Amino acid sequence: MSDQMVKTMMEDPDDSLIVLSGCGTSGRLAFLIASGFNRELRQLNQMSVCSYIIAGGDRALLSSQEAPEDDPRLGVLSLKKVCEGKKRVLFIGISCGLSAPFVAGQLDFCLQDPEVYTPVLVGFNPAHQARDEPMPGCTFTFFSVVQRMQELAKSHMAFLINPTVGPEAISGSSRMKGGSATKLLLEVVFSAGHAAAFSHTPITYEGILQYMRAYETAVNITYAHREGITALVESAGQSLQRGRCVCYLGWGSLALLGLIDASECNPTFGADFGDIRGFISGGYRQLNNNEGPLASLGPEFYIAHEDFLLLVLPNLSDQDTVVLIYTHSDDVSEVVKMACLVREKTSILHAVCHQTDGDTAASVLNSIPSFSQQWELSTKLVLNAVSTGAHVLKGKIYQNHMIDVQVTNSKLYHRATRLLQKLSGCPESRCEEALLKVLYQMDELSADITSSDITTHTRTARNRSRVVPLALVCLLTGCSLVEAESYLELQPIIREAIALIDKA
Ligand code: F6P
Repeated sequence: MSDQMVKTMMEDPDDSLIVLSGCGTSGRLAFLIASGFNRELRQLNQMSVCSYIIAGGDRALLSSQEAPEDDPRLGVLSLKKVCEGKKRVLFIGISCGLSAPFVAGQLDFCLQDPEVYTPVLVGFNPAHQARDEPMPGCTFTFFSVVQRMQELAKSHMAFLINPTVGPEAISGSSRMKGGSATKLLLEVVFSAGHAAAFSHTPITYEGILQYMRAYETAVNITYAHREGITALVESAGQSLQRGRCVCYLGWGSLALLGLIDASECNPTFGADFGDIRGFISGGYRQLNNNEGPLASLGPEFYIAHEDFLLLVLPNLSDQDTVVLIYTHSDDVSEVVKMACLVREKTSILHAVCHQTDGDTAASVLNSIPSFSQQWELSTKLVLNAVSTGAHVLKGKIYQNHMIDVQVTNSKLYHRATRLLQKLSGCPESRCEEALLKVLYQMDELSADITSSDITTHTRTARNRSRVVPLALVCLLTGCSLVEAESYLELQPIIREAIALIDKA
């Protein structure tokens, strides 16, 4: 049904708009999918019909901006702004965990004006597990919004797309399975709508299944290249273990997957922006984001190959890993030129190359059949494996949890407290206390601090690093914050730091 809606919107682009919105990687995928779809429409000389919203604006495409995710009003304001003057809006809110207040605010707003807005929610939790925590200034919760949508879904006035895809391999990392499922589902919906609008292909169950099977093939072909992926993960891991970096140099839309994967490493693993970086041929011109070039915001936002050549390449050594990401239809002579320049500095050079025939270009991946969206998915899977695997090797995962998670919004604050409880076995109050002691860098908490709200704590967390690892070491060993800091400095792998303390 939502594919029928997509078709209707495409047939009347003047008055209609499809808006995809999300936070963090869900917003980045909203951008990727909307851009890809608009590009296809332009190729057919049709008007663009898609817009994207990402909490925190375009800087969140490339860097971690968790705080705006907590703000439902901000979500509404940004939605109103993009929809100005439109008579019909298909709003697609993405929240893998059915949890982001930013998206809940937007859905609630759509539900109040059904004449104009048709809300769709994409996520990967069962509806009864939607977040039911009060949100500042709101009478609704994510859960209550989901309940209202379920009711309206019966009459097709709202849509809930929430298949359960199972737990993530690394707990807390919805960027992986959840992100891939978002991309796959929405692209299937859009492709079906597109084919119905422009080639009069009826939308059928079989047709949808066929799209999904193409992605299944892409997944199978990708993972058939296990050895290549393993080699890539190992060299990226070694680079990170030695304090060196991994650079993704991409061409076309695949480069976006590199930018996205790199941007996720800071909030997910507490990585520095220089640890894993993405660059795109054509820079912001190719990115074509709403707010245009962002390089003036600082080095984190330097994304063009020219920036790489000028600022990163001169400092590369043979302990850094570089990954070239391209397809046979990109300008391969440019890729070769880049490869030669990189080779002068490091021999750890890999390629993720997609092609439709038996080309012999150095590649980890060959012969992914057909469309760029499948190549994108395949690239996403490979890069997610590389950045996750490399951080596992660096010791950033503890008992299958992303332990060095940022504590920069309410969801992450609660997640950090729960994680400490689970891993230390201590009661919630002691875990929260340990978390606050690290955040405020003191061994005794003042009444001022304990009475402050979560927003104050998460704001303070922006300037802190290794918050959860430090709190966990304090809880497990009983040592002071200063001691925990010096042990983790000496031995960043928590398990081994704890063993050191036990021996001392
Ligand atoms: O809070 C940050 C974050 O967890 C990101 O890592 C994630 O991509 C984003 O929130 C969105 O999560 P969800 O899709 O569940 O709303």
